[in-house]
Amino acid sequence: IPAPDFDLVLFGATGDLAQRKILPGLFHRFAVGQMPPAARIIGVARSKMDATGFRAQLEKSLAAFAPQIAEDRALLERFLASVDYLRVDVMGEDGWKDLARNLRPNVVRAFYLSVSPSLFGVIASKLSSFEASTAESRIVVEKPFGHDLQSARALNADLRQGFKERQIYRIDHYLGKETVQNLMALRFANALWEPLWNATHIDHVQITVAESLGVEGRGEYYDKSGAMRDMVQNHLMQLLCLTAMEPPSKFDPNAVRDEKVKVIEALEPVGPGDIVRGQYRGQNRQGGYHEQAGDPNSRTESFVAMKVGIGNWRWAGTPFYLRTGKKLRGRASEIAVVFRDPPHMIFPKMEHRRGNAMIIRLQPDEGITLRNTIKEPGPGGFRLAEVNLDMTFADALKEKADPQDAYERLIMDVIRGDQTLFMRGDEVEAAWAWADPIIEAWEASNQMPEPYDAGSSGPEDALMLLHKEGRRWREIA
Ligand code: BG6
Repeated sequence: IPAPDFDLVLFGATGDLAQRKILPGLFHRFAVGQMPPAARIIGVARSKMDATGFRAQLEKSLAAFAPQIAEDRALLERFLASVDYLRVDVMGEDGWKDLARNLRPNVVRAFYLSVSPSLFGVIASKLSSFEASTAESRIVVEKPFGHDLQSARALNADLRQGFKERQIYRIDHYLGKETVQNLMALRFANALWEPLWNATHIDHVQITVAESLGVEGRGEYYDKSGAMRDMVQNHLMQLLCLTAMEPPSKFDPNAVRDEKVKVIEALEPVGPGDIVRGQYRGQNRQGGYHEQAGDPNSRTESFVAMKVGIGNWRWAGTPFYLRTGKKLRGRASEIAVVFRDPPHMIFPKMEHRRGNAMIIRLQPDEGITLRNTIKEPGPGGFRLAEVNLDMTFADALKEKADPQDAYERLIMDVIRGDQTLFMRGDEVEAAWAWADPIIEAWEASNQMPEPYDAGSSGPEDALMLLHKEGRRWREIA
């Protein structure tokens, strides 16, 4: 569906994220015809440069980050012609009037702030005082959205200086992933699962986001953040919400987000015995977290595993185990819903039985696996075996696939005015209110994170978290 005509103003247009993700994403949407012909992208930054200079920089980025379509010279030129550049001094007065004058009336105006969160407030209020924004304009921001509840509240207050909640789009790029959205389709477009989707039938849920890369060049940011703030408070929380929430009454931004907030508010506090933090180590003082973070004494965690309870009727007694880390043995994100055993077993006991499970693979190799128990063929008694029913989205949906990066999807939703896949202010605050005491307890203790070998499955204690309850993590492939 083509989007309505728009002027998209991209603050921080010369920055890494803009050049690597946002602009190549827009180029993809342009290539498939989703960007209306008159739509414009106005890059804004501090650098003294004109539109020609900006287009030249962008052309290089597109060649690097959207190489296949950038080969089509005519397409590339048409896209570049829709791109403009304005120099604006965010802290001062220069450029703001030009910006306001430059925008067209009667088209969607979206302001994408790909800048440090410390600038959200000043930009939001200047957009409104220089009348660059209207009551229908949209403002888009990225994580990190605060580092605790207090700072998140301050950021919300900053944004509300010039914009109403219905105009604010807070990105969590996990919500832009097809497979993450598929979780909603799976749960609410099928009658098969919902009757089983509760503590009566589900023993526990495992949510894993494992990464094989380390902190690489981002050590400075990451060391102040750690896995809890970088991944759990936002991305894993979203996965947990979509897995655990009640069916909303309609597929509408506030109906969906109301249900997610209720899940977060029902989360039980996580005690020290239910959480394990880890930090990867390299070999011979090479490639370990400390070397990459640049601080030999850093106590920042690059891995977290925890057990979380959800105190409501649906989930009481069914723990959710969350796990995420860097430098693990593979890159794999998945949600495993593990069902309870049959109430009465008439067959001989099966060695190493793992039980029924639904595994939703978010990335890579996106798809769904259903683990079933069947009779092992052949003579020699009635023996059971576990087999998988497997579906990969790539095979099942071959003809329909229009591979979209998470950012592309989300930017087009901004233009269309659909907030369903964006975090609401109260949702972000609720997630921090839950995460804060965990982080504070950790910071108050002098404990070092448990070391784990780069390329492993994480610290031993993370395995024990489940073992001690007679459960086990799925292998990280
Ligand atoms: C980002 C985190 O939000 O998500 C990174 O800051 C992390 O540390 C990344 O690597 C993971 O995203 P994806 O899409 O690669 O799973």
